[in-house]
Amino acid sequence: MSDLFVELTAPNGRKHTQPRGLFINNEFVPSKSGETLTSINPSNESEIVSVYAAGPEDVDTAVAAARKAFKDPSWRDMDTTARGDLLFKLAELIEQHRETLATIETWDNGKPYQVSLNDDLSEVIGTIKYYAGYANKIHGQVIDTSPAKLAYTIREPLGVCGQIIPWNFPLAMAAWKLGPALCTGNTVVLKAAEQTPLSILYLGTLIKEAGFPPGVVNFLNGEGRKAGAALAQHLDVDKIAFTGSTATGKEIMKMAAVNMKNITLETGGKSPLLVFDDCDLDQAVKWSHVGIMYNQGQVCTATSRILVQEGIYDKFVEAFKEYVSKTSVVGDPFKDDTFQGPQVTKTQYERVLAYIESGKSDGAKLVAGGEAYKDVGGKGFFVSPTIFTNVKDNMRIYREEVFGPFVVISSFKTEEEAIERANDTTYGLGAALFTQDITKGHRVARLIEAGMVWINSSNDSDIRIPFGGVKQSGIGRELGEAGLEAYTNKKAIHVNLGTKL
Ligand code: NAI
Ligand code: MG
Repeated sequence: MSDLFVELTAPNGRKHTQPRGLFINNEFVPSKSGETLTSINPSNESEIVSVYAAGPEDVDTAVAAARKAFKDPSWRDMDTTARGDLLFKLAELIEQHRETLATIETWDNGKPYQVSLNDDLSEVIGTIKYYAGYANKIHGQVIDTSPAKLAYTIREPLGVCGQIIPWNFPLAMAAWKLGPALCTGNTVVLKAAEQTPLSILYLGTLIKEAGFPPGVVNFLNGEGRKAGAALAQHLDVDKIAFTGSTATGKEIMKMAAVNMKNITLETGGKSPLLVFDDCDLDQAVKWSHVGIMYNQGQVCTATSRILVQEGIYDKFVEAFKEYVSKTSVVGDPFKDDTFQGPQVTKTQYERVLAYIESGKSDGAKLVAGGEAYKDVGGKGFFVSPTIFTNVKDNMRIYREEVFGPFVVISSFKTEEEAIERANDTTYGLGAALFTQDITKGHRVARLIEAGMVWINSSNDSDIRIPFGGVKQSGIGRELGEAGLEAYTNKKAIHVNLGTKL
């Protein structure tokens, strides 16, 4: 076997053949420079394997492959039912390889295996099937004007789509982007995050097995500033879709301007969760927990700012603290009772610890956690679930995205104040609110500046429902029917049926 594949045995004993190359034209190839990057197991800081890392010259090759595939009638003119069948086949293969994919995801990212297996892989399979179903239901309109004209629209693909994904949900973020791009007939060059390069390469083997024509889907690993930037600036890329930090999103927006690419950006958040006096307290506590502590707090829509009405503030804080200490079991992600694994990298771990220091030095009250968690073999990037109260609105921990098992709680008096403070942020991704008063629930939901509002839940997103943000949380929507808009143009065709000049 060449160095493009390596046999690996994961910590749970599962074996698989891990590709190491760049996936271009349905083949794994080395990077032209020979550069690699190393994937780390965040649970014990050991090296898993190195994979080839793309430079600009590899991006050129992948984009050329995608362009050729886009023009090829075997893809361009494929019967739309057959195109859907390819995606259904891919979903079936992912299902067959579910345990292996979940194992790789947990090993590389640190998320609990039960979460990878049940949540992430269900999301991936569900998304691919959802868009497979759309492939033969995409159509334009006939627009009546006068008997002298037939006018109609066709929904055409954008072309070569660059997709840049983050490390918090590698396979799921790939599925959110591949599903709508492929069912509408685009071709793709997707760059995975350098922190989690492995699962996407394994997915490449399934793309080929499903029967996608060469060049339709290409996967690159590589550094953001090299491979990612080369993709975002490429003159032969028609669209760039990105999920990640707001700072990088802004960079990408600038780079995409070189040829006025279509863009979709899904970036950061500091999403508020409002708990009103009249809520079901037990439910508010449970959803608040999952809303911030799920996936090690590494969720763009995490409801990381909890605002509680003063009448129930003390009760909420007490019950929340109790529930976190009982439920957020930190441990080896391959153990079934683990709720929280390590942060994805040393950088993220140190970032969370730095915010803990910032909260302490700014005078917020630490009521739980506030330190590295060292009881998982003494190694790994584990952080104790952390809760700060007495947080002032000008503190960094209240304003900035921490992206960890880290939550701030503050109190409010009136509904007006709650809305005002919920909106006092540069972000606008998600928001949650708890009340038993349905009128108030809908009234407040309308006034919150966010792409998504959850009434009496948090973060219960659904692949059928549009996902995205306002303000500095992004541009455009993914998922649902809205996800198709992000990958198609409406071309208007005017047929003259009798106007003579
Ligand atoms: P990042 O936004 O820099 O990275 C995300 C993706 O963008 C990766 O694939 C990366 O390689 C790529 N990238 C980075 N710089 C690029 C550039 N100049 N041109 C093109 N592509 C580029 O995020 P990072 O550094 O991994 O995490 C930092 C913070 O970002 C986190 O602490 C968190 O606050 C936020 N974040 C938000 C995510 C979300 O789901 N919205 C996901 C990941 C991070
Ligand atoms: Mg890793």
